[in-house]
Amino acid sequence: MLSWVADRKVDRSPGGDHDSVSGRLQDQRPVRRVQRQEGTSYDPQQWPYRLAPVAQLLKEGLDLPAGVTFLVGENGSGKSTLVEAIAAAAGLNPEGGSRNARHETRVSESPLAQALQLIRTPGAARWSYFLRAETMHGLYTYLERLPAGPGEAPRTRLHELSHGESFIDVLAEHFHRPGFYVLDEPEAALSFTSCLALVDVLHRLAGNGGQVLCATHSPLLTALPGARILQLDDTGYAPAQWQDLHLVDHWRRYLHEPQSYLRHVLD
Ligand SMILES: Nc1ncnc2c1ncn2[C@@H]1O[C@H](COP(=O)(O)OP(=O)(O)O)[C@@H](O)[C@H]1O
Ligand SMILES: [Mg+2]
Repeated sequence: MLSWVADRKVDRSPGGDHDSVSGRLQDQRPVRRVQRQEGTSYDPQQWPYRLAPVAQLLKEGLDLPAGVTFLVGENGSGKSTLVEAIAAAAGLNPEGGSRNARHETRVSESPLAQALQLIRTPGAARWSYFLRAETMHGLYTYLERLPAGPGEAPRTRLHELSHGESFIDVLAEHFHRPGFYVLDEPEAALSFTSCLALVDVLHRLAGNGGQVLCATHSPLLTALPGARILQLDDTGYAPAQWQDLHLVDHWRRYLHEPQSYLRHVLD
């Protein structure tokens, strides 16, 4: 299934490359900025407003460049809270899918979306899609039940594929045209090779007018050339270079010498 990327090279150095592409596409990015909706009020002591990245977003707003933006940070730093709220503010189903997706298993999203406003580019692509590992099961059920359109091949039986295969299947089908794409830890289901396939998908998307916001823990994904990286912590978020990321540093040390970590966690 992944042979179409097997011989493509994704070995350019991180942080370089497709600035010229971003420059061209910059003015057609679907979402230019996320900011506080004027007139909204909230209690800064309450979740989710008490999370530092949320407070920063509401205070400063966040300009979204063309191409790919990664959010990285420890578990609990607020990545999912941000991407869910931004996806919901973009009109996306918090449980995943396109703007048209209508499925719901439980309501666990924050009220943050209502406090946010997206500044869009007039005339830019309105297609958008939210892909999140946590709720893929419900999305697959929904997608499988959709009738195939006239002349379309029958839909893949997503529940009969492995988690990773079905994820790649959804990517291949929905992630290729200009629009706004939100992903939350897409690597959770994916092997190393499948992560490379995802890098390829994101690279093509960025070159084709796709604007991506992706929360991740993956040193592999975040090495995508030209991507912008924001690192979240208990002080907020800040731009970071791939080679300086905490997660890259940890993986580098761990792969070099697993014992340097394991001696601290194993008796
Ligand atoms: N529904 C909720 N109510 C209260 N706190 C929550 C809720 N959902 C998440 N949190 C808390 O918000 C913080 C950020 O969570 P999350 O955005 O999921 O982090 P990340 O995706 O970076 O791991 C965590 O401390 C989490 O426990
Ligand atoms: Mg999360």
